[in-house]
Amino acid sequence: MQHKITSFQQYVETYKKSVENPEQFWNEIAESFQWKQKWNQTLEWNFEEPTIKWFLNGKLNITENCLDRHLAENGNKPAIIWESNDSNEPNRTITYFELHAEVCRFANVLQNNGIEKGDRVCLYMPMVPELAIAVLACARIGAVHSVVFAGFSAQSLSDRINDSACKLLVTADGLYRGNKTVGLKEICDEALQSTPSIQKVIVYKRTNQDIKMQLGRDVWWHSEMHKAAAHFDAVEMDSEDPLFILYTSGSTGKPKGVLHTCAGYMVYTYYTFLNVFQYEADDIFWCTADIGWITGHSYIVYGPLLNGATTVMFEGIPTYPDAGRFWSTIDKLQVTKFYTAPTAIRSLMASGLDFVKPYKLDSLKVIGSVGEPINEEAWFWYHDHIGKEKCPVVDTWWQTETGGIMISPIAFVTPTKPTFATLPLPGVQPILVDNEGNELEGNNVEGLLCMKFPWPGIIRTTYGDHERCKQAYFSTFKNLYFTGDGCKRDEDGYYRIIGRVDDVMNVSGHRLGTAEVENAINEHPNVIESAVVGYPHDIKGQGIYAFVIVDKESIEKGIIDTDAALPNSVENDDSLRLLNITSFENEVKNIVSKIISPIAKPDKIQIVSGLPKTRSGKIMRRILRKIAEGDVSNLGDITTLLDPSVVDEIIKGSK
Ligand code: WT7
Repeated sequence: MQHKITSFQQYVETYKKSVENPEQFWNEIAESFQWKQKWNQTLEWNFEEPTIKWFLNGKLNITENCLDRHLAENGNKPAIIWESNDSNEPNRTITYFELHAEVCRFANVLQNNGIEKGDRVCLYMPMVPELAIAVLACARIGAVHSVVFAGFSAQSLSDRINDSACKLLVTADGLYRGNKTVGLKEICDEALQSTPSIQKVIVYKRTNQDIKMQLGRDVWWHSEMHKAAAHFDAVEMDSEDPLFILYTSGSTGKPKGVLHTCAGYMVYTYYTFLNVFQYEADDIFWCTADIGWITGHSYIVYGPLLNGATTVMFEGIPTYPDAGRFWSTIDKLQVTKFYTAPTAIRSLMASGLDFVKPYKLDSLKVIGSVGEPINEEAWFWYHDHIGKEKCPVVDTWWQTETGGIMISPIAFVTPTKPTFATLPLPGVQPILVDNEGNELEGNNVEGLLCMKFPWPGIIRTTYGDHERCKQAYFSTFKNLYFTGDGCKRDEDGYYRIIGRVDDVMNVSGHRLGTAEVENAINEHPNVIESAVVGYPHDIKGQGIYAFVIVDKESIEKGIIDTDAALPNSVENDDSLRLLNITSFENEVKNIVSKIISPIAKPDKIQIVSGLPKTRSGKIMRRILRKIAEGDVSNLGDITTLLDPSVVDEIIKGSK
């Protein structure tokens, strides 16, 4: 823990050093790992192409640093404490010895099922320790893991499998989520109808529900593990060999596979976990994210394990059996550091303090927030009622593409300020620019957040499409990484993230592209065109507002009756469907659920006869955003619109 910053003065000095000599700064941190061969060049970079390489020609395996390295001194220390969806089911505690053995066993299972270094393996799993085991086993054998959040639909799953041509899928029979059971294998079976690259499916038994196993393709986790040895020599990886792919939404329709590599990601998640949360050996660290998102990759699995920490994995949801679940679990497991999302805080805040009062919460030392801007009310509620005014709130800003936390208070070190992510961590060089890319210098400025120098955890490429990586992050402004976020720097030089400035929405901390949702809505047989925007939502942060044009003929023939005078979904013989507005909306929501995920369902749907477009045919989302926000006082210049009259009509019908 020699790299732990413990005073603000030390932060200022370390930051200065990290900017003056980044290579020396990161070298010192990288030295503390177990390498099979040391790197001979620290950094090679060029943001034009982009090419970014850290710790060149180093050889290592990240799992030796997550597991083997801790065995001699801490083999019996709990690595993972698992909390079931069912609050009455006993916890599972897995020590470093046990985790090491299980990971080795599963690496053998992967090998026995044809997996080699470089192959892509898709993981579509419940939040059970076996997901962490599978992630690490992939890393141990050098296979590239691609975890797909188990809330995604069959189609989203097959799209992701196909994009990176995964050879093997690891899943479970089903999963528990609150009082619901989801048939995961059934969803996989649907997805697997269009995934030619998949040769084997390994199925973990969680719910014991009836499932179909396809002979020759599907095998059980437990029977495979039973046959496998608990020893597996970690495969030697180059620093820049891919570690994982994680799909995330962008401003175009198709999610992109963000690729992270071995050494840089390792050094970066280790360092940020240690400092932001001020990790101590006896911590019980709980990050409530799902491993299907980057937060789970970096701060449930890799960051904590690289530090030899005890990490909590929670299978359930914050409101089951009731809205006190987080707080009862903190008391039960004596959690010291807690990391969650503003959307969860807001929804628990709305449930009232009666769900907080029964619990002591006196084990807590640091509480963190991630995923979206945290509003002032939620910040204070979290600080006062959960942190009992004594725990620093670390509001951590980062992205799937950054690999780890970028702008954040360091607990007990950086004075916090509600709603501010505060200051860049060492090695992070933010810059604010205006729309033309001119740097906004000094304090009290607001602009677009970019980074002017690489850090070890930065995205290397988007899988299979390097040009897309370049376009999305490195082309907007020359020689800068563009985050897509708007940001303010205040009089103290503190950063406050305002939100996305591109066509990306943040719904309950989930990132969704407007185009992705529009494409799904457009699959409805009566929809001609749609435009979706995010709007402020009390709990979700942003809700989804969809403006849709339906085919005129359908309305005229009464297929879609906007006056809701018709019965629901009546079919007549020439298969013209009579649909009232409610059933039309439900159909649109169902299509979005089916194509993407229930998290992408629009909250509001408005049928319109036209969309505000420029003469070149571009939808002016700025106007739609204003209407969705309910703020039509200043719509800006609408004279450039092809047909300005649609704006009035949309305002009149707005919800
Ligand atoms: C986007 C990245 C990185 C973990 C989870 C989300 C927003 C993230 C904050 C924060 C304000 C935040 C940004 C960012 N965001 N953290 N502390 N304050 N906004 O990862 O899905 O890649 O989304 O989430 O808009 O660009 P992600």
